[in-house]
Amino acid sequence: MFINDPELLSRGGMDRPIAVHPAALVESMEVGSGTRVWAFAHIADGAVVGEDCNICDHTFIEAGAIVGNRVTLKCGVHLWNGNVIEDDVFIGPNVSMCNDPYPRSGAHLSEHPRTVIRRGASIGAGAIILPGIEIGAYAMIGAGAVVTRSIPAFALAYGNPARVHGRVDRQGRPIGSPPAPNALRSRTAA
Ligand SMILES: CC(C)(COP(=O)(O)OP(=O)(O)OC[C@H]1O[C@@H](n2cnc3c(N)ncnc32)[C@H](O)[C@@H]1OP(=O)(O)O)[C@@H](O)C(=O)NCCC(=O)NCCS
Repeated sequence: MFINDPELLSRGGMDRPIAVHPAALVESMEVGSGTRVWAFAHIADGAVVGEDCNICDHTFIEAGAIVGNRVTLKCGVHLWNGNVIEDDVFIGPNVSMCNDPYPRSGAHLSEHPRTVIRRGASIGAGAIILPGIEIGAYAMIGAGAVVTRSIPAFALAYGNPARVHGRVDRQGRPIGSPPAPNALRSRTAA
């Protein structure tokens, strides 16, 4: 049931089509070739999505959010202005990303903190990622974690609040001993 949106295709002279389900809403001009967008996904004008991504059902990508190449967003993931998702990241179903540390209805930040998921990292189902933190490259975040502090590269972290319990390899398999505690960084990290 996929269609290849001719308007999107004509924008970039793409070698490979973007596959957009007829029930998806793609307003952004910046979606990379080979990306698949499934039903009820909404990519807003001003959002950026790279090549060969898999954007699953019921996802939302707000203006100002940036998604790299070969990223998987499983069902129910919402990304907000200030969220930066690097290449090869996996974001599990119903992960909650945030962009306002002290929200109030009707109050809007002039600038949102950057929340960065570094290359190759994986976020388990239902995790909550607070604003302004960084998940290091190839880190593995367990299902249901509440991540309140930045997490180092290749760390295995889970729980509420999320703590580093070990390390993983590039394939995401647990290995060896945990990184030193001072490798943990504060929520104010750039
Ligand atoms: C975090 C994770 C990678 C850990 O895997 P693991 O190293 O094989 O962990 P184990 O199963 O050996 O469990 C080790 C301990 O951590 C606990 N634990 C494991 N995952 C946990 C999680 N997500 N939150 C809290 N505790 C967790 C276990 O209960 C166990 O505790 P115990 O020693 O007191 O019994 C894995 O459990 C996980 O959450 N994977 C993500 C799955 C997911 O969301 N996939 C999305 C697509 S379907």
